[in-house]
Parts: sequence; C-alpha cells; structure tokens
Amino acid sequence: MRNIEFLDTSLRDGEQTPGVNFSINEKIMIAKQLEKWGISAIEAGFPAASPDSFTAVQEIAKILTKTAVTGLARAVKSDIDACYEALKDAKKPQIHVFIATSPVHMKYKLQKTPDEVIAAIKEHVTYARERFDIVEFSPEDATRTEKSFLLKAVQTAVDAGASYINIPDTVGFTTPTEYYETFKFLIENITSDREIIFSPHCHDDLGMATANTLAAIKGGAGRVEGTVNGIGERAGNVALEEVAVALEIRKDYYQANSEIVLNETFATSELVSRFSGISVPKNKAVIGGNAFAHESGIHQDGVLKNPETYEIITPELVGVKTNSLPLGKLSGRHAFVDKLSGLGFDDITNEALQALFAKFKVLADKKHEVTDADIRALVAGTTIEN
Ligand code: KIV
Ligand code: ZN
Repeated sequence: MRNIEFLDTSLRDGEQTPGVNFSINEKIMIAKQLEKWGISAIEAGFPAASPDSFTAVQEIAKILTKTAVTGLARAVKSDIDACYEALKDAKKPQIHVFIATSPVHMKYKLQKTPDEVIAAIKEHVTYARERFDIVEFSPEDATRTEKSFLLKAVQTAVDAGASYINIPDTVGFTTPTEYYETFKFLIENITSDREIIFSPHCHDDLGMATANTLAAIKGGAGRVEGTVNGIGERAGNVALEEVAVALEIRKDYYQANSEIVLNETFATSELVSRFSGISVPKNKAVIGGNAFAHESGIHQDGVLKNPETYEIITPELVGVKTNSLPLGKLSGRHAFVDKLSGLGFDDITNEALQALFAKFKVLADKKHEVTDADIRALVAGTTIEN
C-alpha cells in the first residue's frame, strides 16, 4: 500500500470562491481542524496578495506542529520573499511556485514566449530552493499544455530543486483517462536522483474533479490537492473528503491509503461550511444531509435487515452519528413500525397498525416528509394539516 499525502488549499484556492472571505481567526480555527483531520500540508494563503493574507499565513505557521504549512508565490522574487518572511516561524515550511505553461496563458496572460517561461521557472525555483528545503512547482493550466513542453517545464523545475510537482487542471478540462496518462507519462520520463512526488490539483468545471484526482493516484501521484466541501473558483476544487473516503472504501483497488482521520470529516466539513457561508447540498457525496438517508420502502427494509445492503460507507466512519429512514410516500411498513417503536409506541395491535399505516400513506401522499410530530398525531387520532 502506498501512503497518499493530502494538501488542503481551502484557505487559498478555497477562499477564491466568489463571496468567501475568511477572517484571520476563522483561518486559524480551520487550520487547527485540518491538522486534527490528518492533513499533511496546508496551503495557508498567498502572502503577497494582501496584508491580511500575509498575517494569516504567519499566524498559522506559528501554530501548526504536525502539518506542514505552505504559501503560494508566482514566479516573482517579491512573492517568494513574502512567503519566506511569512513562513519563518513554521515548524515545517514549504513554498508553492507557479507559472502558466499553456499556449493561451503564455500568449495572452503572461505575454511571454515558451523560452521565457522556461527561463522564469529555472530562475524562480532556484531562488525559492535557496530559501526553502521543500519547493513545490506548478505549471498552471497543465492539462491544456502540449505534452513535450509540459515535460520540459517540469524537468526544469526538478533540476532547479523542486521536490513536489503539481499538475493543475486549472479549468477542469481533463478526463480521468487522459489525466492518468499524463501522470504516467511525466513520472516515467522525468529524470532525477531525488524522490519527486507528483500531485493532482483538480477543478470541477465538468464535474470530474474527484474521478480525475483518483485517476492521478492510479497513475502514480503521491499527494493530492483540494479543498473541504470542494469550495473554490467557479465550480470549485476537488472535495478532499470525497477523495479520502473513496480511497478508504476502495483501497484494494487503488492500493493506497491516507492518514486522514476519517471520523473528523463531518466536523471539518461543518466548520468550513459555517465560516465560508457555502452550505453543503443535501445530495453531496459523503457529507450531504441525505448521504445516509434511505426513503424508499425497499431500501428501508434492506437497511433495517442489514445496512450493508444500501450503505457502502457507515455514518460512523465520517463522524456522522447515525443513518436515517425518513418517512415518505414510498416508505414501507417495516420502516413505519421501526419509527413507531423509536417513538415509544410498541404496544399497537395488528389491527390498529393496519389502520394507522393506511392513514400514514394518505398523509404521505400530501407531504414531502412525514415528521415525528405527524406520527404522534396519527397515533393520537388527530392529523396535522400543512
Ligand atoms: O488551479 C490552479 O492552477 C491553481 C494554481 C495556482 C496551482 O490553483
Ligand atoms: Zn486551483
């Protein structure tokens, strides 16, 4: 089994979510929870971006002991200097230097030739390595970069001292098979006498961020980057909780695991949702409100007999107390009796049960969900109208 490291960028890429602006205190509380969750490195911010971004990285660097703290820098010396200053007190400092390598970014955004970009990589990764033991390099928009140029950019960064190579799918453009092949190609062709760790960094524009990240792991990646709840630019980054739980549930397939403390997942998700103001959709994988809810009679009957019939993840695994069997028009007698018993109505005769179940079905046809109060009213012989 390979161990996959997790880098969380909720405080940097996640904060690029439109409308999200964490206070320094909120960032510190999130960073502490990420450490508890077992994250191996936190991208705490972009120190050159603003005084508050700088202070947040500096404060987080002072606090974390187990988790490495990294800051983002463009291939610009003043950005690297800002990271160096902000991370002076970190127990485990790292730096993340990036520059775009795709034709559209080089031509229109950077207005640099490919040769100038290669020179900038060499100069700035070298400059960063003189100040940090651990340097990560990202060729931004890697998945729209021509493969031989991507290899050249990555080899240049490795030769200049980078030990982590991140391959960003900046605009969520790639597909699982293509991304898998990109990782295989780079890992097979890079030359170095040091260990080089590759990581996926996926955005979810086409809804493939989790699948792409897992494909990169299959292709040899040793670290993954993403955010809690998938917050981030546009459609967001990959949701790290999905990757962590998928690895756990399918570890035999991926032949990999992680040090994520899975039963801290729900608490981590809730904290980030509260501070970001971005609520988690009910049907979101792993941590959505309905992730452990079963409504149809056939499913409820199966789950009551053995939860494994319809649950591949136990609620306890991710720190959720219990599953639920919400009552609706598709629910069956088994779940209805279970609910009655849970509410303390154990001594109902068969005949009364028959009649109650019939009334329940009539009510359920009119409501999205039949509540505990509705059931109590049914038993008491009254009906709540809504
Ligand atoms: O998506 C992206 O390309 C990024 C880089 C800065 C790594 O966030
Ligand atoms: Zn990104």
